[in-house]
Amino acid sequence: MNDTVLSLRDFRVSFPTVNGPVQAVRGVDLDVSQGEMVGVVGESGSGKSVTFLGLMGLLPRTTIIEGSATVHGKELVGQNSKQLRSVRGKKIAMIFQDPLSALNPVHKIGRQIVEMIQAHENITKKAAHVKAVELLDIVGIPQPDQRAHQYPHEFSGGMRQRVMIAMAIANEPEVLIADEPTTALDVTVQAQILDVMQRIQHELRTAIVLITHDLGVVARVVDRVQVMYAGRAVERGTVDDLFVRASHPYTRGLLDSLPALGRERLVPIQGSPPNMLQPPPGCAFAPRCRHAQPECVLELPELRPFGAGETACIRAEEIAVEVAGV
Ligand SMILES: Nc1ncnc2c1ncn2[C@@H]1O[C@H](COP(=O)(O)OP(=O)(O)O)[C@@H](O)[C@H]1O
Ligand SMILES: [Mg+2]
Repeated sequence: MNDTVLSLRDFRVSFPTVNGPVQAVRGVDLDVSQGEMVGVVGESGSGKSVTFLGLMGLLPRTTIIEGSATVHGKELVGQNSKQLRSVRGKKIAMIFQDPLSALNPVHKIGRQIVEMIQAHENITKKAAHVKAVELLDIVGIPQPDQRAHQYPHEFSGGMRQRVMIAMAIANEPEVLIADEPTTALDVTVQAQILDVMQRIQHELRTAIVLITHDLGVVARVVDRVQVMYAGRAVERGTVDDLFVRASHPYTRGLLDSLPALGRERLVPIQGSPPNMLQPPPGCAFAPRCRHAQPECVLELPELRPFGAGETACIRAEEIAVEVAGV
């Protein structure tokens, strides 16, 4: 697609340790277009955060980052910290699970947004303040001109997350990375925050990556999902497709562990993810997979077309028959 904004190719992140490198991200591809929201889903530790922190230059200096990550064709891998600082906020913005830790407790909300705007734009304080109030309004904060004069502790968790979104979009980034933005919030507030993100996607045409461990969250708002396991993408497809016919046993496992109406009991995925100091040579999910065969552990499976999406399970065809046939 020619309106691709963010593009990852064979993206890799590893952390040197005394025991050797922790291979947190092991060759991920991803494309996100303008005005599109893509979900990146996987259990805790699958490499979701590290992927995006890595491309934004937010990991420790010693981190080894390889492959390619481009925004509108401009390569981020290999840029120095000064260059990446100018990319952050302006081209790519990121919001996190805990908005409080990202806000300065001693400064008023309005001032913090003003500083964010002035960091990237040559604009008077007064004009920036007007813009800050507009931004608070866009993210659905009532009485934005009064709220701008309040401190972070005067906002609820959901309202703080709205403030973070306002700051993130302050400089009209091309990509917004939202890392578990609703995980700390209760269900009603979760839905409101997802609504705000959808509005930004549609009205500002921002490309959005929604990172979550919860397939239920992405089901509400994204069009496409990329499922990650042990630092690799294992399945890719539309939400509708994935929920109806997930091809990868890991994705099925995630679906089975999802609370759903009428489901009698949740079935968590047995076992735990591999040690990323020595990831297995073949499919990293094989040790936990009830469909695994000896050939699964021979070589690292790549994503390949399957059905309407893509799968990294070499047995996807057989399993589909098995599951349908019993
Ligand atoms: N600074 C670090 N040093 C070593 N290992 C790390 C570091 N940060 C993250 N990791 C490891 O990288 C893997 C992926 O982590 P992360 O991307 O945070 O997972 P998640 O999918 O839950 O966001 C985990 O195994 C984690 O322990
Ligand atoms: Mg994470």
